[in-house]
Amino acid sequence: MAANRWMPERFDEIADFWANRLVMESAALDIYGQLAGGSLSAEEVAQRLGLEAQSTHLFLDALTGLGLLSKKGNRYSNSEAAARYLVPGLPDYIGHRLIAAQQSWEMWGHLFDALRSGQRQRDKHYFDDPEAARHSLLALHRDARSRAADILVRGDIDLSERHQMLDLGCGAGTYAVAFCRAHRQLHATLVDRPIAAAIARDVVASAGLEDRISVLEYDVDEHELPSNYDFIWISNVINARSYNANRALFERLYHRLVPGGEVAVHDMIMDDTRTRPARGAVFSVYMLLSNGVGRCYTFQEVFDWLDGSGFHDIRWVREAEDDMTLVIGTR
Ligand SMILES: C[S@@+](CC[C@H](N)C(=O)[O-])C[C@H]1O[C@@H](n2cnc3c(N)ncnc32)[C@H](O)[C@@H]1O
Repeated sequence: MAANRWMPERFDEIADFWANRLVMESAALDIYGQLAGGSLSAEEVAQRLGLEAQSTHLFLDALTGLGLLSKKGNRYSNSEAAARYLVPGLPDYIGHRLIAAQQSWEMWGHLFDALRSGQRQRDKHYFDDPEAARHSLLALHRDARSRAADILVRGDIDLSERHQMLDLGCGAGTYAVAFCRAHRQLHATLVDRPIAAAIARDVVASAGLEDRISVLEYDVDEHELPSNYDFIWISNVINARSYNANRALFERLYHRLVPGGEVAVHDMIMDDTRTRPARGAVFSVYMLLSNGVGRCYTFQEVFDWLDGSGFHDIRWVREAEDDMTLVIGTR
């Protein structure tokens, strides 16, 4: 999310959101899955998806114009890019990301209301909606696979002597799976709410790591956490919580670690101005809309929670290019 390239073209791109919505909707309708078996006419697509034929013509022509479909005579088929990225079930599928964005579209329409009231604009918590949570978690999973690989390649954390890790708010379990694959002595306990835990179990099973990774279903604010870990990983979790809830959580986590154990907080950690990384500043507005209590926190704030809980050797590990960075502390 570049902050310094504000040329007229970029303002044009911002205003020209119609194509964004078309593409998100096409993924949500699974147009590309319908066309995976071969070309179809607009009437056939309309019939399969319960749409009106003439509007489906317009829709498919627009997607063809955008390069996601190709059209021969009256028949449409997937372009090369759509066949690779937008057919569900394929390894490069990116549709979960588009569908998750589509599902938050209406909420963003209430930005002015949120700014005026300071109140969230969703009735229920995002993760209470199973479909929305599934798309969001699978979108994160796609992103996290390459992030986990980068963390391991860069050596941002040293797991060579670690044996028991806790992944708190594990989502799809992507990081723990990558870490356990890279370190054969490592065992992991993954903790999350039921929807995420079910996805994580599938990810762990397809990695063949059930003997070293267990997945527990629970809310960390409502249950006592297991203890005796030498590494706690908490990724993309603190940004959905209030300042005080995070402070209380780190006080509890300190006691779940053995002496010498480390906690690693992986998040969009902000600089003191709270404006960088830009993606984090934008995400904080999303959190205002989404749950009304979360935001991205500065390094100083995370430092204060860890320091106040008794952690020492607190350090910020960051790559200049990366929005997601790490704060590590030792018990
Ligand atoms: C944005 S996802 C991050 C998933 C994963 N850690 C990652 O980085 O890709 C946040 C996860 O934290 C979980 N979470 C948030 N609060 C929680 C709580 N109180 N107890 C258990 N899980 C929680 C959510 O259910 C969700 O799966």
